[in-house]
Amino acid sequence: MKILVAGGAGYLGSALVPRLIDRGYEVDVVDLFWFGNHLPAEAGIIHKDIFEMSVQDLERYQQVVFLAGLSNDPMAEFSPSRNFIFNAAAPAYLAYIAKKAHVKRYVYACSCSVYGYTDNELFDETRSVSSSYPYGISKLQGEQAVMNLASDDFSVISLRKGTVSGYSPRMRLDLIINTMFKNGVRNREIIVNNPSIWRPILSIEDATNAYIRALEASEKISGIFNVASGNYTVGEVGDLVRMAIEEQLGLRVHLTIHHKKDFRNYKVSIQKAENMLSFHPNYDVKCIVKQLIENMERFHDWDNPQYYNIETLKLLSQTNSLRSLAEIA
Ligand SMILES: NC(=O)c1ccc[n+]([C@@H]2O[C@H](COP(=O)([O-])OP(=O)(O)OC[C@H]3O[C@@H](n4cnc5c(N)ncnc54)[C@H](O)[C@@H]3O)[C@@H](O)[C@H]2O)c1
Repeated sequence: MKILVAGGAGYLGSALVPRLIDRGYEVDVVDLFWFGNHLPAEAGIIHKDIFEMSVQDLERYQQVVFLAGLSNDPMAEFSPSRNFIFNAAAPAYLAYIAKKAHVKRYVYACSCSVYGYTDNELFDETRSVSSSYPYGISKLQGEQAVMNLASDDFSVISLRKGTVSGYSPRMRLDLIINTMFKNGVRNREIIVNNPSIWRPILSIEDATNAYIRALEASEKISGIFNVASGNYTVGEVGDLVRMAIEEQLGLRVHLTIHHKKDFRNYKVSIQKAENMLSFHPNYDVKCIVKQLIENMERFHDWDNPQYYNIETLKLLSQTNSLRSLAEIA
C-alpha cells in the first residue's frame, strides 16, 4: 500500500512515518519543511505546498494522511488569516483531489480543542463543539469539510487528538509535558498556570498507534474519533512530571502554581475509538517522561527555535518563506 503523508515532516509525522515504513508501507511525504527534515531515507520526499498537488499526483496513493497546517493556538493567533488557509482550506482541498483521484481513505488530524471550554463533563464525539478561537475554529472547519466528502468509496477518519507529548526526531518543546519537562530539568521549576483545568494527554506512541489503527481499519469505517492516553488536570500533570524527574534523574524540582484563566478545558471519552478502531492507549505521563529522559541528549539544545513552533513561524514570516500558493494566487 502506498500512503501520502501531508505535513509528514512535522513532530507527529517524523514519529509516524518510520513506523509506517517499518510495517512495509511505501510512504511519500509532501511538506514545506518549516522544521527541517528528520525523516528516514526510505521516505519519498515531495518538497511542495499542499496547494501545488494535483489530482494526477494523488492517483498513485491508496491512503492519504493530513498532518499539516499551523499546529497550535499561538501560531493561529499570530496570523489568523494564514491559519484559516493552512488549517481549513488545505485539508479540504487535499481531500477533494484525493477523492477525485480514487484514493480509498483520508485520515485527518483534528484536535480536542474543538470542544473549547466545557463544564468538566466527559465529552464524546456526539457532544456540541464550541471553540471561539482561530485554531479550534479552523480545525473544526477542516474536519467538517473532509467529513462531508465521506462516501461508500471514500472513507474519511478524523482523529480528535489530545495534546501530544513525548520525543520525536523533529522535536517540539511547546507541548504541555515537553515544556514542563524542559523547565523541570533546566530550571528545576515547573510552572502550572491553572491547576484545575482538564486536558486529554496523548503520548506520541499512542498517537502514532491511533493513525496506524485508522489506516488499517476496515474500509467501511468513516467517522470522528477522540483519541487520548488519559484525561488529567494540569495540576496533576505538573505533579506527575515533577515526580518522574525526581525519581528518574534524582533532581529536586519546585512546582509553582498560578491561577490564570484558560479558554480550553475539556476531557474526552475514547470509547468509540476503542470499540471501532481497536485503539487502546498504553502510555501514561510517567512513560512519556521516561521516553523524554531516554532521548534527552538529542534535544538538550533547549533554546533551538525549531523546538518552538511560534518562534519558527516568526522567523519564517520575517523572511517571507511561509507564503502559501493560495495567498499568492
Ligand atoms: N501536536 C499536538 O499536540 C496536536 C494535537 C492535536 C492535533 N494536532 C494536529 O496534528 C497535526 C500535526 O501536528 P504536529 O505537532 O506534527 O505539527 P508540526 O507543526 O510539527 O508539523 C506540521 C508540518 O506541516 C508542514 N506544513 C504545514 N502547512 C503545509 C502546507 N500547506 N503544505 C505542505 N506542508 C505543510 C510543516 O512544514 C510541518 O512540517 C496538525 O494538523 C495539528 O493541528 C497536533
